[in-house]
Amino acid sequence: MMDNKDLEAEIHPLKNEDRTSQENLGNRTEKEDPCKSLPPQSQLSRCRTVAFFLSLFICLFVVFVVSFIIPCPDRPVSQQMWRINYDTAVTYDFLAMKDINRDRIQDILFLYKNANSSNNFNLSCADEGFSSPCTFAAAVSGANGSLLWERPVAQDVTVMQCTGPQQRASGALSACVLVGGPGSVIAVDPFTGETLWSHPGSLGRNVSILSLLLGVPDVNNDGLPDLLVLTREEKEVNGYVYSGSTGSQVGRKGSLGTDGEGGSLLHVTRTGAHYLLFPCAHSLCGWSMKSLFEEMTGKESLLKKDPLWERAINATTHRVSSPSSGAIRYQMHVPGRAGNDLLLVGSEACVLLDGQDLAPRWTLGNTQVFRKPVLGHYKPDTLSVVIENGTGINRQILLLDLSTGVILWHQPLPGFPGGPPSANLPTADHRSAFFFWGLPEGVGANQTETRNTPHSLYMFHPTLPSILLELANISTNIVAFEAILFEPSRHAAYVLLTGPESPAEPGLVSVTKHKVRDHIPDSRVVHLGQDRADSDQAIRDRFSRLRYQSEA
Ligand SMILES: *[C@@H]1O[C@H](CO)[C@@H](O)[C@H](O)[C@H]1NC(C)=O
Ligand SMILES: *[C@@H]1O[C@H](CO)[C@@H](O)[C@H](O)[C@H]1NC(C)=O
Ligand SMILES: *[C@@H]1O[C@H](CO)[C@@H](O)[C@H](O)[C@H]1NC(C)=O
Ligand SMILES: *[C@@H]1O[C@H](CO)[C@@H](O)[C@H](O)[C@H]1NC(C)=O
Ligand SMILES: *[C@@H]1O[C@H](CO)[C@@H](O)[C@H](O)[C@H]1NC(C)=O
Ligand SMILES: *[C@@H]1O[C@H](CO)[C@@H](O)[C@H](O)[C@H]1NC(C)=O
Ligand SMILES: *[C@@H]1O[C@H](CO)[C@@H](O)[C@H](O)[C@H]1NC(C)=O
Ligand SMILES: *[C@@H]1O[C@H](CO)[C@@H](O)[C@H](O)[C@H]1NC(C)=O
Repeated sequence: MMDNKDLEAEIHPLKNEDRTSQENLGNRTEKEDPCKSLPPQSQLSRCRTVAFFLSLFICLFVVFVVSFIIPCPDRPVSQQMWRINYDTAVTYDFLAMKDINRDRIQDILFLYKNANSSNNFNLSCADEGFSSPCTFAAAVSGANGSLLWERPVAQDVTVMQCTGPQQRASGALSACVLVGGPGSVIAVDPFTGETLWSHPGSLGRNVSILSLLLGVPDVNNDGLPDLLVLTREEKEVNGYVYSGSTGSQVGRKGSLGTDGEGGSLLHVTRTGAHYLLFPCAHSLCGWSMKSLFEEMTGKESLLKKDPLWERAINATTHRVSSPSSGAIRYQMHVPGRAGNDLLLVGSEACVLLDGQDLAPRWTLGNTQVFRKPVLGHYKPDTLSVVIENGTGINRQILLLDLSTGVILWHQPLPGFPGGPPSANLPTADHRSAFFFWGLPEGVGANQTETRNTPHSLYMFHPTLPSILLELANISTNIVAFEAILFEPSRHAAYVLLTGPESPAEPGLVSVTKHKVRDHIPDSRVVHLGQDRADSDQAIRDRFSRLRYQSEA
């Protein structure tokens, strides 16, 4: 049992202290200097009080200074939506993002072909030695669409690709390389628009460009990665290597056989050997970069070969022995357990091959895929692959688990053949928000041929698997589309490049940025199943509350 004094102290905890503090007060009135003459205990508590208020005051003062007097670093104000227009122009399927003006908001690079540039900059085609009309490269601020730079870069452009860091950095080379007509190879600094180097007519006049690969291993020992252009001349596939630093051709052209089409891929095996892969003769063809470089330069290359791959590639036909997937339409890298694996999209099947031993991981048969797949996250932190099976009104969207090939979600979504590709953005729950283009509901099969029927942009999130949100209808011809986070972990938006379908008929070219969230209040909720537990407004609110997060 507690004794009475303790019990009382517990019931009236302040009582004892009251008594002591009253005693202290009495004491204080007796003597002048409280801190010196008081009993040591109360002296201490008084000094403590003074110290407490003093530090509180300092704290508040610091907070005040930080929050009001020292200005926050300026965060540039982004416009929700902007658009820039060019009259009587044509444009190309090219959009690239870089932070050009260092405001930490992604800026946009694109190409258009026109007789004159817009009014802001007065460079004309003739200033750069081109005849009018010529192709201009332009960079606009992602924040408000104001023009950052613009200049004529080539007579015409077949392919353009950018490489290097997102921001201007010393020591790292950033370049956009374009192959233009007739046969010129040009590198442009994406931050200024200055031409880094230009080699007009370095390719023959009658070549068609199959692909452009930036960042191939250094061939001319200048310490910078080089670039490889694959062309088809008559019926022959040839490779040309250009120095990454000066753009001059390295060695002579290398012949890659007689049958090849489409894009190529530079694969590095787990043992560090480089192989060039491209679709050919209803199969996949492979070349060791070591042999190719040695053929071009006549010197020994330091690159490696992999014995397993040397056995898998037929030395005469260069075909890679792999499970039959029909004629290869696309080949792409996907992250595997160790290094990159290979996803092959064929005319009959999609196959995931191990990046080292070429063993099939899974095969999805009975598919008709005409579009390069994209990767996203359906389940948290697990990659899945978006495959479009079929075209036109028979199109289905399939979301597969990348490691197993299991179908996680599938949905018929009629679309235009050649409509814009799908895209996705990472959300804070470690999944992705997906964006698909399709026909608006109710547009019939026989209306798909007329060009001005609208395209609808649909949004999908795996946490609401029976809902598609129709964000917008667009009736103009879409040349390029990209969904991007304009700022790290925020500002989800999409960019549309629209323009005439045919390069022969110039018309209005527009670049438009829209914030995703702005479309949600006016969006239309499409229920895919019978489940209608939530009201449309509740569903829109859930889409509005999605947070986006850049992948690490
Ligand atoms: C290009 O600009 C020049 C001078 O500004 C003008 O005379 C000419 O008509 C323009 N051409 C076109 C096709 O707009
Ligand atoms: C327009 O051209 C003139 C002469 O070439 C040059 O002095 C001027 O700076 C240019 N203006 C712009 C905005 O580029
Ligand atoms: C657009 O934003 C940039 C910063 O990103 C700013 O420097 C520029 O003044 C803005 N232009 C307009 C027209 O608001
Ligand atoms: C270019 O190639 C086409 C067909 O590939 C051929 O008809 C034409 O004669 C060639 N032109 C030249 C100049 O070689
Ligand atoms: C390479 O392909 C050719 C033609 O298909 C065939 O005759 C030859 O046997 C193949 N070589 C090997 C090593 O498989
Ligand atoms: C792909 O589409 C075709 C017809 O459009 C269909 O027969 C086939 O089952 C589909 N494949 C898959 C894997 O769903
Ligand atoms: C398709 O076209 C036919 C005749 O051209 C017409 O009778 C039919 O109503 C059309 N269907 C739709 C869904 O518009
Ligand atoms: C798109 O068009 C369809 C049919 O014209 C209409 O029902 C739908 O509400 C439109 N969607 C939006 C987001 O405006």
